[in-house]
Amino acid sequence: MPIVITGANGKLGSLVIRKLLQHVSAKGIIACVRQREKAAQFAELGIEVRECDYDDPDTIGQALQGASKLLLISGSNPEDTIRMRQHAHVIEEAKKAKVEHLLYTSFAFADSGKNSMTHMHLAAEHAIKASGIPYTFLRNALYSDFVGALGLDAAIAQGELVVPPGEWIFNTVTRDDLAAGIAEVLSGPDHQRKTYELTASSTWNFTQLTEVLSEKAGKKVSLRYDPEIRNWLYGFLRTIDTSSTSADLAKLIGRPTAALKESILPFLN
Ligand SMILES: NC(=O)c1ccc[n+]([C@@H]2O[C@H](COP(=O)([O-])OP(=O)(O)OC[C@H]3O[C@@H](n4cnc5c(N)ncnc54)[C@H](OP(=O)(O)O)[C@@H]3O)[C@@H](O)[C@H]2O)c1
Repeated sequence: MPIVITGANGKLGSLVIRKLLQHVSAKGIIACVRQREKAAQFAELGIEVRECDYDDPDTIGQALQGASKLLLISGSNPEDTIRMRQHAHVIEEAKKAKVEHLLYTSFAFADSGKNSMTHMHLAAEHAIKASGIPYTFLRNALYSDFVGALGLDAAIAQGELVVPPGEWIFNTVTRDDLAAGIAEVLSGPDHQRKTYELTASSTWNFTQLTEVLSEKAGKKVSLRYDPEIRNWLYGFLRTIDTSSTSADLAKLIGRPTAALKESILPFLN
């Protein structure tokens, strides 16, 4: 019985499919996308491609025919109220299609979150539980990509990284590690009715980041705290739990998650 993956053309979805192919054959995977013309990579691998738009329940119902497991990758609409409706469409159609196991990409330690994004993910988790479909919640930590908004190249050029005061601690993960962990859950037994907090094995902070930047630059990059910094990102970071960790992801992938140095290299020139 096939594993259906929504959001397959996205960055996480396509990586999950690549990792899943290490466990199951292409015939066991169905890639659901909004735009079939962008999914040639899957068709070439022998993976069935189906159209699925979270705003259009008919397409979802057709995409889920015969699905045994469904990985619902949370949508990317910037409006969380819209995402709630979209996820509800998928959950309703999954119930109609008699999906046996629904896996959902939520957010790490969402219960401690204080913004609409974490509330939206908790709402989806509750809706899935209310549906009665056996579930697994894959609570993804903040992607390491967020460092791309910290101005790292400028920090190297200026010899200092400037951040607002505070005790900043990060449990970020790479999509690659997440995809490997999610593929393990999709292809393995005994994951129903479980919630995995998919965070880094250990945290990092801005002092460690400047050490990595200094090594990369071959010169000292120091850390300076400035209360005058105006960057929306820090306000957002204060509304999510960026510091708690769990061993769930490392256990799933059988090794520690990617180190800070490895995680940030793609975001440096
Ligand atoms: N943990 C984090 O730090 C973090 C950060 C950002 C986002 N996220 C969440 O994680 C999800 C996956 O991340 P990602 O990096 O793979 O994001 P991404 O590359 O933007 O992919 C999002 C996927 O969702 C699909 N999608 C959006 N709206 C849809 C709709 N109405 N119907 C069907 N599919 C729809 C997109 O389809 P198209 O390819 O057709 O556009 C795309 O495949 C995001 O969507 C978001 O919910 C998590």
